[in-house]
Amino acid sequence: MSVPLYADLDGRSAVVTGAGGGVGYEIAGALATAGALVWINDLDADRASEAAEAITSNGGDGPGGARPVVADVTDADAIAAMAETTGPVDIVVNNAGLPLRRFDLKRFAETEPQSWHEWIEINLFGVMQVTHTYLSDMLEQEWGRVVTIVSDAGRVGERGQVVYGAAKAGAMGFTRGLAMEVGRHGVTANCIALGSIRHGVISEAYDANPEIEAKILRNYPVGRLGTPADPAPLAVLLCSEAGSWITGQVYPVNGGYSSSL
Ligand SMILES: NC(=O)c1ccc[n+]([C@@H]2O[C@H](COP(=O)([O-])OP(=O)(O)OC[C@H]3O[C@@H](n4cnc5c(N)ncnc54)[C@H](O)[C@@H]3O)[C@@H](O)[C@H]2O)c1
Repeated sequence: MSVPLYADLDGRSAVVTGAGGGVGYEIAGALATAGALVWINDLDADRASEAAEAITSNGGDGPGGARPVVADVTDADAIAAMAETTGPVDIVVNNAGLPLRRFDLKRFAETEPQSWHEWIEINLFGVMQVTHTYLSDMLEQEWGRVVTIVSDAGRVGERGQVVYGAAKAGAMGFTRGLAMEVGRHGVTANCIALGSIRHGVISEAYDANPEIEAKILRNYPVGRLGTPADPAPLAVLLCSEAGSWITGQVYPVNGGYSSSL
């Protein structure tokens, strides 16, 4: 019996968007450790360079290691320029998004239509544009992986995150349709839907308000919020040869979260 090693990405190349920190950084590091050459996209040049350097010097220097590439995923010209730098890649991880600052939550009735655009731009348009840019080469070479990071706000729905959830749900619908079109060409497309990840400003807010975190934790059977590294093992599996019969799916990585309505 021959079972492919799930973590063998030797010879593969990847772009991970928004990989200058957080979830994207951890996924990029895991892909590099598994052997891929990983392009660290971010709109912030310093974050991209520092992340690429850290991944390479942490031993995530398989055959390729990590390299920075700056682009705003909501800007079509910038994405085209990014693709000129990277050339074709085997793996696209659409990670850049607008994670909600928990304390900026707004009921839909209180939002202004002008404010909806930025959510759709990064969480749906950016995902489609980056995928479209790299897809033709994947189809031609008959191998490719597209993994998009979404949210339980779009998978199950969350109060105060209606527009964000709508954009993420759009990315899930896009993924399911894309998977139907490209499967016969060796290309898979899947989503990873996250619960609340404790990092950055959210971490600081919880440090300052432990009672709020304790309340939220009641919805998490495993008794803790996520870390940015939690989604990385699944991302590597989905991007590997071993993931070739997994497509069109949305996988929650969320500590068993269920909203208490
Ligand atoms: N953090 C959470 O609790 C959480 C929960 C559910 C889903 N998610 C999703 O996970 C993904 C990653 O979240 P995170 O909290 O790690 O992100 P983050 O806020 O740490 O941002 C990661 C990086 O993305 C970069 N970035 C922002 N806008 C960009 C753009 N337009 N183009 C290129 N780079 C850009 C930032 O500079 C940053 O370095 C997002 O898609 C988010 O919606 C996060």
